[in-house]
Amino acid sequence: MNAAAADTGERPFRLGVLVSGSGSNLQSIIDKLHHSSANIEIALVVSDNHKAQGLTRAAEAGISTAVFPMIDFEERLEHDLAMAAELERHEVELVVLAGYMMLVTPAFLDRFPYKVINLHPSLLPAFPGGSPIEDTMDYGARVTGVTVHYVDEGADTGPIILQEAVEIKYNDTVQSLRERIHEVEHRLLPRAIELIAGGRVSFDEENPRRVVLEDT
Ligand code: GRF
Repeated sequence: MNAAAADTGERPFRLGVLVSGSGSNLQSIIDKLHHSSANIEIALVVSDNHKAQGLTRAAEAGISTAVFPMIDFEERLEHDLAMAAELERHEVELVVLAGYMMLVTPAFLDRFPYKVINLHPSLLPAFPGGSPIEDTMDYGARVTGVTVHYVDEGADTGPIILQEAVEIKYNDTVQSLRERIHEVEHRLLPRAIELIAGGRVSFDEENPRRVVLEDT
């Protein structure tokens, strides 16, 4: 938790955060936004993995958690509908995929239209997929970065909300580059959430691929 919550009397904007692993991005949302003057609250943290460190981070911050391991379900559809029902029960207004390693199904997206965002460690549309940092380095790119985007039915293809470039140094390792990317992620994701919660994100009427930000 960070600064004292602003006592505006308004109900906080409610987030659901999905994590699969370490949850350092979840931690940045907890530190920068949860019960902050932005009037945002993480209502629920969900994972597909009992051992995700993100669950411990949530519990330490007093945030409710739920785990939906894929193995407990016969189909992805059933899994995602159970997860959606739990998020709805917590009256979540935005779902944040913060290191959630599974693709969500169209049925899940239908329950939260234009209310699911993802964080990806490359400058999309370059290097989508599951190992973008390794792929970027193998390709020999000089610049990579971070993208926060809406989730659509494709893999890393939804409309882009924010991007920031990160230079790749010749002597970078996957680990050193990952660390610099994480630093940017920890700023960019909370910023995107704050913009959405503040009602400052919309879509260009003529080209809904283009996201309009009120502060730029
Ligand atoms: C981040 O690099 C994010 O871009 C990717 O998964 C990673 C999650 O890191 N989708 P963490 O679990 O938040 O530390």
